[in-house]
Amino acid sequence: MSDTLIGIDVGTSGVKGIAISPRGEVLAVAEEDYPLSTPHPGWSEQDPEDWWRATQACLARLPEGPIGFSGQMHGLVTLDEEHRPLRPAILWNDQRTATECAEIEESIGLARLIELTGNRALTGFTAPKLLWLRTHEPEVYGRIAHILLPKDYVRFRLEGELAIDAADASGTLLFDVANRRWSDEVLAALDIPREWLPPSFESTEVAGAGDQAAGALGVGIDAPGPLSVVLGTSGVVFGVLPGYSADPQARLHTFCHAVPGTWHAMGVMLSAAGSLRWLRNVIDTEEATLVGEAAAWEPGAEGLLFLPYLTGERTPHADPGARAAFAGLTVRHDRGALTRAVLEGVAYGLRDSLELLKELGFTVGIGRISGGGARSELWTEIVATVLGIPLERTAVDEGAAYGAALLAGVRSGLFADAHEAVAECVRVTGRVEPNPSWTSVYDEGYERFRALYPAIRPFSRGT
Ligand code: XUL
Repeated sequence: MSDTLIGIDVGTSGVKGIAISPRGEVLAVAEEDYPLSTPHPGWSEQDPEDWWRATQACLARLPEGPIGFSGQMHGLVTLDEEHRPLRPAILWNDQRTATECAEIEESIGLARLIELTGNRALTGFTAPKLLWLRTHEPEVYGRIAHILLPKDYVRFRLEGELAIDAADASGTLLFDVANRRWSDEVLAALDIPREWLPPSFESTEVAGAGDQAAGALGVGIDAPGPLSVVLGTSGVVFGVLPGYSADPQARLHTFCHAVPGTWHAMGVMLSAAGSLRWLRNVIDTEEATLVGEAAAWEPGAEGLLFLPYLTGERTPHADPGARAAFAGLTVRHDRGALTRAVLEGVAYGLRDSLELLKELGFTVGIGRISGGGARSELWTEIVATVLGIPLERTAVDEGAAYGAALLAGVRSGLFADAHEAVAECVRVTGRVEPNPSWTSVYDEGYERFRALYPAIRPFSRGT
């Protein structure tokens, strides 16, 4: 039996590969970045060949062992009969499909769609992208023989196997999430051939999961209990459900979890750490410097608010046309204040998802935080206070790649199941408490944040 497990995460900014021991210690990490292209406002594409090159480069720097995969969810990869990509992949944060989403909800009916898939049609999901291609690129559409999600394309290049897991398939809007299989009814209603889709498996059978499910497993969330809170490019609040149940209005996503026979609900904001990265790029200053300056400001930054809708928003607004804003500027505000407002605005966005989880009956006691933004002590304390829950950190903060490596361990037989993988490998090493002296400022700030989106909505829609 192998004494090394490999996890590959096909992310939005690059591939991360890790090698771990059977006790969960990280032995090696390799990362390779690639570009993201925005050929039109609101579009977001990548070349599948870049993922494959980056994966090969990472694997060349890691020891050998069974490989598990995770990756950015929802992206549409179209292949021809020879399994060659027909065009760049259309990613999870692409916003071009508002018309197709409306079409899907109209033709199937919103209530029926939620019954069939657990979810509503959102611009980032895979099915509306297929309908967009049918209308706008009929020549490409006519040559499709297979469709895959990003990490499954990489798996195909590596292992020659066309496959998907229930967790990632959940985000296509073509999957019957309750029954963990492709939905023949949705496929028929949208006139999408069943044979384009890869066979679907449980995450542990095929060693793969969408990045949110893999990331949650990687911080030990294998059953109802702590929430997964992610400060990655996207921001996520994720809880395991006691059984299948969908929000009747599908304001949160209901997806299969990477643990067989279990489900989770989550809210996803599109620009979390992505908002701080944007500010860094605009101001051309290191994030650590900006966050240091933000720490000098009192909570609430003297009334400055930031709406983090730089790439539209998913939860809670489902609005691809939403736009970001700073509100409440005075001459006293400097770049530290702008940064503080960004950190706080993202935390308020996460609270929107938490409030929806509470409405669905989740008992909210504690969270486990991960993602690049979680490395900041200040940001973690702000998020803990705005959410009103302590946030635990785990010994390894390699995110989804770590969960993917655990899945490789289950598939290869090293662990009996996902629970054993978690028990052997995941250790909680720290805890950040809400700061009681900030609570009232943030409760009030959250109320103002909630009021801001409806107020600027009529003026903020994109082209
Ligand atoms: C989840 C989602 C994002 C991407 C980011 O629904 O769209 O978290 O998976 O990689």
